[in-house]
Amino acid sequence: MARKKIALIGAGNIGGTLAHLIGLKELGDVVLFDVFGGVAAGKALDIMQSGPVDGFDSMMTGGSDYAAIAGSDVVIVTAGFPRTPGMSRDDLIGKNAGVIAQVAEGIKTHCPDAFVIVITNPLDAMVWVMREKSGLPAERVVGMAGVLDSSRFRLFLAQEFNVSVEDVTAFVLGGHGDTMVPLTRYSTVAGIPVPDLVKMGWTTQERVDAICTRTANGGGEIVKLLEKGSAFYAPAASAIAMAEAFLKDKKRVLPCAAWLTGQYGIKDLYVGVPVVIGAGGVERIVEIQLNGEEKAAFEKSCNAVRELLDASKKLVG
Ligand code: APR
Repeated sequence: MARKKIALIGAGNIGGTLAHLIGLKELGDVVLFDVFGGVAAGKALDIMQSGPVDGFDSMMTGGSDYAAIAGSDVVIVTAGFPRTPGMSRDDLIGKNAGVIAQVAEGIKTHCPDAFVIVITNPLDAMVWVMREKSGLPAERVVGMAGVLDSSRFRLFLAQEFNVSVEDVTAFVLGGHGDTMVPLTRYSTVAGIPVPDLVKMGWTTQERVDAICTRTANGGGEIVKLLEKGSAFYAPAASAIAMAEAFLKDKKRVLPCAAWLTGQYGIKDLYVGVPVVIGAGGVERIVEIQLNGEEKAAFEKSCNAVRELLDASKKLVG
């Protein structure tokens, strides 16, 4: 069986990390695309040269010619600009909406059958631009945010309880921003929901609330520390989990920015919800029952995403 082909649009911090992970996990061959073709080509060559040491054979190329992405099975998009300290994700909209519209055109022309994962921020609005401008079916255009947000949530919970991250599951809903909704009632240690762990005296509600706040501000915490640029290792790992679920038809249940058509009472919006990812792309949207408080928080988050969407519509039509 021929190797899968994965195109990475944007060869910056996340793009390079994605390529490295694809090699290490032997997911397929990589084409790195960037407006700075030399950077894309240099990173491709550098990573490929680690193959003999780490034992992978992925072919990696890089450049600035869209024709090279032809026939890709998966496209992961990080093209655009990252945050700098003091900026919110939403501040990026003016710069990144045009970039994503351009990338969408490249995908539409050269690999319209691909599964497209968008990482560029502000995420929920950028996925919308991608779908709108590429014309690809909604089940094949998805945004990476929830896997990252829930991974951060899992880490903080694992640290709080002094247990392995492997035994912590976490559930987040909503937009990728300050309004995201970490759902503690569906977050567990080996199946024991967090509210039960509070009752068992493992932690307090105040500490859980602080962890939720830290999760929602997880990206900002890193932007502040790095001083230039934003997080890239965990975002790359999260997108790879989604790509792998598609390429291996794993039917993983992952929180992603998906196109809602009435689920959760929300229509015509990309926003974070749990979905099943398999060979068909987003094969199912998992709709759980929310209580009043959760519903209100989710709706608030959707309203924030809608505002961003309206701003994007004005920018790219
Ligand atoms: N087409 C292709 N590549 C582009 C374009 C474009 N029109 N515009 C910019 N790029 C490239 C840049 O040249 C750069 O190499 O996108 C790359 C972005 O890389 P970084 O600046 O290192 O940013 P990164 O940390 O990878 O984050 C990218 O993901 O998480 C989000 O907020 C983050 O929006 C940002 C994106």
